[in-house]
Amino acid sequence: MTRFTGRVAFITGVARGQGREHAVRLAAEGASIIGLDSCAPPATTTYEPATEADLAATVAAVEEAGGQMVGRVADVRDAAAVQAVVDEGIATLGRLDHVIANAAVCSYGRLWELTPEQWTETVDVNLTGVWHTLRATVPTLIEQGRGGSIVITSSGAGLKGLPLLGHYGATKWAVTGMARSLANEVGEHSIRVNTVHPTAVRTPMGDDPGLRAVLGAHAHLTRSFGNMLPTGKIDASDVSDAVLWLLSDEARWVTGAAIPVDAGASQV
Ligand SMILES: NC(=O)c1ccc[n+]([C@@H]2O[C@H](COP(=O)([O-])OP(=O)(O)OC[C@H]3O[C@@H](n4cnc5c(N)ncnc54)[C@H](O)[C@@H]3O)[C@@H](O)[C@H]2O)c1
Repeated sequence: MTRFTGRVAFITGVARGQGREHAVRLAAEGASIIGLDSCAPPATTTYEPATEADLAATVAAVEEAGGQMVGRVADVRDAAAVQAVVDEGIATLGRLDHVIANAAVCSYGRLWELTPEQWTETVDVNLTGVWHTLRATVPTLIEQGRGGSIVITSSGAGLKGLPLLGHYGATKWAVTGMARSLANEVGEHSIRVNTVHPTAVRTPMGDDPGLRAVLGAHAHLTRSFGNMLPTGKIDASDVSDAVLWLLSDEARWVTGAAIPVDAGASQV
């Protein structure tokens, strides 16, 4: 028996990056996965978009790790599409135990210079998309009567004020508040809700080629971006370590918590 034997986890933004890593790590510990990804270019980002081939590679990696996976193309901004993937996944895999609200987009700019498109896309995906993820899953967790655990991926930008990320940070602070409200509402059902707050992670988002140009134009603002420990970025697997712990019974009395996986960045 491993920590997730027989359990089912729903993950958004599963085609690559942290979402894929969480899926494969959970499968290696016995879980089956329901996952979705938009697999489409966001309008306002400057890094490579995920593709349907990426999603297929995640499904293959989960199966290689010994898990089953229902992986579908869907956008977290579309509440009905999110619900349809969750419903299909539960019909196929039989249950739901864990939720990882991970999908997000990230772009840069000083708050007063952001375009309305940047603001709207960031809020719609990173904040409303998380709400859609929760409303599609929490009723099932309650109805099953077996408890459950939910992790929302926030950011270091959800623990401190980072320049050039006012819109993104607003959503990442917001989901932290959302998690704490929900934790209070579902605690009586033994459902736990926590957030993780990574520093820069080696993923396509974290390796955004557009960031260099923005930082070059605002060099005096880069002082806010340092880590305390001697690394510039962490790996997706470092975040998975924290996420799987929070999802697991090892964290059975941990809820309403905001867990930094940030090499100390929030305290610099
Ligand atoms: N990479 C970093 O430096 C970093 C740091 C802190 C927090 N985070 C957070 O970690 C999480 C995972 O990011 P990542 O680093 O793996 O980035 P990533 O871009 O590699 O992966 C994000 C995935 O989400 C998907 N996605 C985007 N918009 C979507 C939508 N509307 N509907 C469905 N799927 C959508 C993308 O297609 C992509 O596959 C995000 O919440 C991000 O904000 C990232």
